[in-house]
Amino acid sequence: MPRVADPCVLVMFGITGDLARSKLLPAVYDLANRGLLSPSFCLVGVGRRDWDDEDLRDYVRTAVRARARTAWHPAIWEQLAAGMRFVAFSSFEDDAAYGRLTAVVDDLDATRGTGGNRAFYLSIPPGWFPAVTERIAASGLVDESPGAWRRVVIEKPFGHDRASAAELDALVGRIVRPDDVFRVDHYLGKETVQNILALRFANTIFEPLWNQRYVDHVQITMAEDIGIGSRAGYYDTIGAGRDVIQNHLLQLLALTAMEEPSSMGAAAVRAEKEKVLDCVRLERAGALDLDATTARGRYGAGFQGGVPVRGYLEEDGVAPDSRTETYAALRLEIANRRWAGVPFYLRAGKRLARRVTEVAVVFKQPPFLPFEDAATAGVGANTIVVRIQPDEGITMRLASKVPGTHLELRDVRMDFGYGASFNEDSPEAYERLILDALLGDAPLFPHRREVDLSWRILDPVIEHWAGAGRPQEYRPGSWGPEGARDLLARDARTWRRS
Ligand code: BG6
Repeated sequence: MPRVADPCVLVMFGITGDLARSKLLPAVYDLANRGLLSPSFCLVGVGRRDWDDEDLRDYVRTAVRARARTAWHPAIWEQLAAGMRFVAFSSFEDDAAYGRLTAVVDDLDATRGTGGNRAFYLSIPPGWFPAVTERIAASGLVDESPGAWRRVVIEKPFGHDRASAAELDALVGRIVRPDDVFRVDHYLGKETVQNILALRFANTIFEPLWNQRYVDHVQITMAEDIGIGSRAGYYDTIGAGRDVIQNHLLQLLALTAMEEPSSMGAAAVRAEKEKVLDCVRLERAGALDLDATTARGRYGAGFQGGVPVRGYLEEDGVAPDSRTETYAALRLEIANRRWAGVPFYLRAGKRLARRVTEVAVVFKQPPFLPFEDAATAGVGANTIVVRIQPDEGITMRLASKVPGTHLELRDVRMDFGYGASFNEDSPEAYERLILDALLGDAPLFPHRREVDLSWRILDPVIEHWAGAGRPQEYRPGSWGPEGARDLLARDARTWRRS
């Protein structure tokens, strides 16, 4: 049976931002359309615009018509729109506005049968967290009420380093209990990411090979072909390391490398992810040399797909002396029995050759090949590639005999594609995550300790880069800077040309 969220009010801070428009609001509509929200569901938008409820409805309608995954149904829309309210803030420090917000939420509780349940979605720059959480608490919006829940959903980045992430936790901890904090890493909402655990732990054939005896190395790639668009305000203070490696890529590493959990419950999965993140090392064979094991770059001006594109420094809003990286690569090791000596290479970048996110597990060569050298010249390493997106699926690369009278071997691919195997479209990550937050279901949200352990890994790298001059420039449409190639060349390996 589908799980339907309790009646509730979802208060969205930052509803006028890019993320809300392109992902969150379409996902809310898609959930309503799939019958997964209660008819009493209410959405309160908070933003620094001079809008009324009708303006909000127009805005949400436009966002939904442009980006929703499911079909437009006027009756569903009317029901959703009836529960929408807008509260205009002059700033997030506008005390009177919190009073108005409280009155609106109380009124919805009284008139629309929300059961007093409230979720606060904070899709705002982290700099505003202290002001917002303090005032939410002071206004009584999160005071406990018997039989009703209060939850806070926070968008990344969770701080900008280990210390600030701890401060953020303390702030949010003042308004709700730790179990009522839902940290969003939208990669965990993706079907293909959830499938990593299914692949590993619901099958017999992979797990015996999933260790240092058979695996040569692992490559985790998140390549985007787009630039930063209009997001300089956010991106220029963050860079690729903090934007996606600290969260999405280290989560992919944890799911790929963790031990089998005792169940798929939140606590059991977290415990295993935490254990493996705790074993991650920046050292290469025991020695720390971050110049040799990390690389960063930023895209220059050039052409992408035949179209002229600006370099990062020429993008609107980027500081002229910016040293922010738009590409980052790391070589990590995992100090435990399963993975000792197996490098995990992570890379992420904007304006690369194409959009692809994948986890590639590259196996060792067989200990002996009873073929003539010429016969195996065209054979590479066995590889299992989890294709996170696009073209979601799993590929295995194997050697096979080329049909003919003489013995020649070549690599072939065995493919599983979601499109060919399942009729239903995968829900968007945010549909799953918003629903889970409203259901109070925690497995797909990183725990405070996972966030802390991820910063423990990244902090020394960011600090090292801060003292290391400008990032290397790379050509748009390429696979990143020279330094990234050198990083693998030091280990006599090459990146996959995905
Ligand atoms: C976000 C990053 O978390 O993920 C963006 O902040 C990035 O910089 C985006 O573009 C990519 O998400 P997806 O789901 O398209 O891979």
